[in-house]
Amino acid sequence: MAEQRQPAARPLADLHERVALVTGASSGIGEAITEELVRAGAHVAMFARRGDRMRQLGERMAEEAKLGGEHYGETLALTGDVREEADVRAAVQRTLDHWGKLDILIANAGFGYRMPLVDSDPARWKAMIDTNVYGLLLTLKYGVGAMLERGSGNVVVTSSVAGRVPTPRGSAYCGTKFAATAIADSLRQEVGPKGIQVTTIEPGVVISEFQAVAEYPPDILPAMLQGAEPLMPLDIARAVAFAVQQPAHVGINEIVVRPTGQAHP
Ligand SMILES: NC(=O)c1ccc[n+]([C@@H]2O[C@H](COP(=O)([O-])OP(=O)(O)OC[C@H]3O[C@@H](n4cnc5c(N)ncnc54)[C@H](OP(=O)(O)O)[C@@H]3O)[C@@H](O)[C@H]2O)c1
Repeated sequence: MAEQRQPAARPLADLHERVALVTGASSGIGEAITEELVRAGAHVAMFARRGDRMRQLGERMAEEAKLGGEHYGETLALTGDVREEADVRAAVQRTLDHWGKLDILIANAGFGYRMPLVDSDPARWKAMIDTNVYGLLLTLKYGVGAMLERGSGNVVVTSSVAGRVPTPRGSAYCGTKFAATAIADSLRQEVGPKGIQVTTIEPGVVISEFQAVAEYPPDILPAMLQGAEPLMPLDIARAVAFAVQQPAHVGINEIVVRPTGQAHP
């Protein structure tokens, strides 16, 4: 009988010279994703409100590159607010003007706010919904718009385990992250057939500025972790790098990353 030969598996993509736009790059998960991509050779446009923080990150990566990282990509700091349509549109345009294309869009900017619903501050809700939902939609509208013409690209949306499991004190934050998960999967169905790979990443507890920005009372983290070792931003960045290195026909649609010992949410 003739021997059946398996087709050769396609290799992981080389990120060298790929161009990425990372929102929320000034801190935490976005900062770590920026570092991971630059170390893999990708050029990264960093977007957030704190330009000084992104410039420091850019300088740090350039220093690392001088110390043996010849293959490192470059960075570009773009200051803006994801809630402002003009800022988001300009960030995508400046990325295209600088490097001529956009291959990887990391829609990550966001923040949390946990409070019993009836005690919540509506102004905090509004800022969070505008950032986590409207800002995400703007990022995807202009970022994915720039990819469609070329018929390829990777999009990663940072949702959360809070986008899978609702919790007390989480009505508004969980609502924004359920929205993020839905938006990403809806987009995946629209643009997957056009060659764009869309991944939703859903982290559990990651130690970053997130907890301070959310003004977590001291009991929240221990209750979530129950003694488990929390994640660090690099743990999420590695999962993102895995997703964006897949060959064009492999869609890593959803990645849930919890601390091993985190049972809930
Ligand atoms: N840490 C966790 O446990 C955890 C778990 C699951 C999901 N997440 C999600 O992961 C993402 C990143 O969080 P993180 O842990 O890295 O928190 P972080 O350290 O506080 O970083 C948040 C980033 O978002 C940016 N950002 C916030 N509002 C923005 C706006 N209006 N315009 C532009 N950029 C804005 C911040 O930059 P500027 O302040 O400079 O603008 C910062 O770079 C968020 O979407 C968060 O919901 C976090």
